[in-house]
Amino acid sequence: MDKLIVTGNGPLNGEVRISGAKNAVLPILMSSLLVDGKLKISNIPHLHDITTTVSLLGQLGVQFQVDERMAIEADASGVNQIRAPYELVKTMRASILVLGPLLTRFGEAEVSLPGGCAIGSRPVNLHIKGLEQMGADIKIEDGYVKAKAARLKGARINMDLVSVTGTENLMMAATLADGTTTIENAAREPEVTDLANCLNAMGAKVTGAGSDVITIEGVKKLHSAEHRAISDRIETGTYLVAGAVTRGRVKCKDTDPTILDAVLGKLREAGANIAVGEDWIELDMKGKRPKAVNIYTAPYPAFPTDMQAQFVLLNAVADGTVTVVETIFENRFMHVQELQRMGADIQLNGNTAIVTGKPSLSGAPVMATDLRASACLALAGLVADSPVTIDRIYHIDRGYDCIEEKLSQLGASIKRVASHVWAREQKKPAA
Ligand code: EPZ
Repeated sequence: MDKLIVTGNGPLNGEVRISGAKNAVLPILMSSLLVDGKLKISNIPHLHDITTTVSLLGQLGVQFQVDERMAIEADASGVNQIRAPYELVKTMRASILVLGPLLTRFGEAEVSLPGGCAIGSRPVNLHIKGLEQMGADIKIEDGYVKAKAARLKGARINMDLVSVTGTENLMMAATLADGTTTIENAAREPEVTDLANCLNAMGAKVTGAGSDVITIEGVKKLHSAEHRAISDRIETGTYLVAGAVTRGRVKCKDTDPTILDAVLGKLREAGANIAVGEDWIELDMKGKRPKAVNIYTAPYPAFPTDMQAQFVLLNAVADGTVTVVETIFENRFMHVQELQRMGADIQLNGNTAIVTGKPSLSGAPVMATDLRASACLALAGLVADSPVTIDRIYHIDRGYDCIEEKLSQLGASIKRVASHVWAREQKKPAA
């Protein structure tokens, strides 16, 4: 397995282009199953999860044209499979998003249960409960969700919990249902809104996306469409935090400042000067150490859980003692023990981390455990007094497009080393 070696190199200073949003593109790619025709999607990030999704959909019979301008054209007119196998689903939980589209277009779907991941058990009971309310007959057999419905019926669904992919799966299923569906306590994330906009371009009738009540009036068929995915707000926040922890200046281009209010507010509270334009955000610490900020994660528009690890790091090198409370996932503090190995002063108490900042951290070999934790560790290397070697970086490749190139563009000293090269270098006698 490759490793990333990150060496502190002073304040970052530069500009970086933000890629399309992974968590918008994944459900939008799955929505291609709804159309007996083509769906062209642009602003696609180069990520492992996108490759996984293309191979999963390819196995179901979707044909793809991929062009170098980060655009993908999916043609689901020849789909001839309704079974999403465990081998693929286990590598990417978001694969559960084929369930709604397959069921509503073909009347049948068999999707492997995704299973948990490092950050939590990740159940899909709310996806299943909503589809049953729409008239689906669902059995869980041999680790698969087996669903059947001649035609789904519109229903009034109240989600027990705010679920991003739960909202997305049910919204897609409702587009071809007989009648009108309302989803109450719906997720309000911008990626849900982006999916709704894409579905409407395909001829669906979705209203209320971005609020907590989404209404979908079922139609008979959807048609081919084109859609440009929104920019990645979490990638944006990650590079802004990189600027903050190194006391530097970072400008993120091709991004959207209107979907990052909670994160920009916390960066300003930490002492960052933030300037924004229509499609750019510039953070400038003017060489100052960030101030520590209390964090409480919650569904959008509150502070996003996907930025929690990055802010634990910010607080680990900031001035002050604060708490970081994780309310969405039950096990999303695995980056803490890695940061503690780097000398960070963090006490864990259930879903609360009490962080006392230090001016810098010490280098150490660390291990990435999930996507955002691995990004946090890469950023930690920027403020360590000796190199940080990060193992299991396949996690980072799932969600960050060309992270070495982008951080290097900002002045970071970061390199990817193949594990056999790294092992050989370890054996060399000390110079
Ligand atoms: C989406 O995951 C994102 N993934 C996650 O991003 C993100 O962290 C999460 O939303 C929260 O914002 C994608 O969009 C592909 P949830 P999702 O359903 O939809 C519980 C990243 O780093 N729940 O909103 O799987 C669940 O256990 C990833 O890019 C149920 O109990 O999350 C959690 O506690 C990580 N039953 C809470 O709801 C269900 O049926 C919110 O989960 C569904 C969810």
